[in-house]
Amino acid sequence: MLMANLAMIGGITLMSISSAHAKGSVEAGAVKARACQVCHGKGGKSTKEVYPILAGQHAAYLRKQLYAFRAGTRKDPIMNGMATSLSDQDIEDVSAFFNSVE
Ligand code: HEC
Repeated sequence: MLMANLAMIGGITLMSISSAHAKGSVEAGAVKARACQVCHGKGGKSTKEVYPILAGQHAAYLRKQLYAFRAGTRKDPIMNGMATSLSDQDIEDVSAFFNSVE
């Protein structure tokens, strides 16, 4: 019984770590997103029409756009270049970060 409980706790801990990883880290994203804010504004609150507002957008939406830019299925000369340097984890993290900005 005790062993079963311990195994369960272990399983839950592992699960929460891996899902936090998959969801992306707001803290890591804040660091990784520094370069993005030159164009997209502080926290993604762009004030220029040519640069989309990223602040508060759904993480799933941001993620999808970044994967598309990286794959080249969504075309933009600037963002295709930006996205090629992002790993999957970078995409998760910056998406979580911009989503967290109110
Ligand atoms: C040199 C300026 C510049 C930089 C730096 C930049 N972007 Fe962009 N970004 C743009 C422009 C311009 C667009 C609009 C592209 C279009 O019209 O399709 C865009 C579009 C996007 C979109 C799509 C938004 C939407 O509403 O569909 C996302 C997401 C995005 N950028 C994320 C990022 C991230 C993350 C970074 C940093 C890794 C970054 N950008 C860095 C200029 C920039």
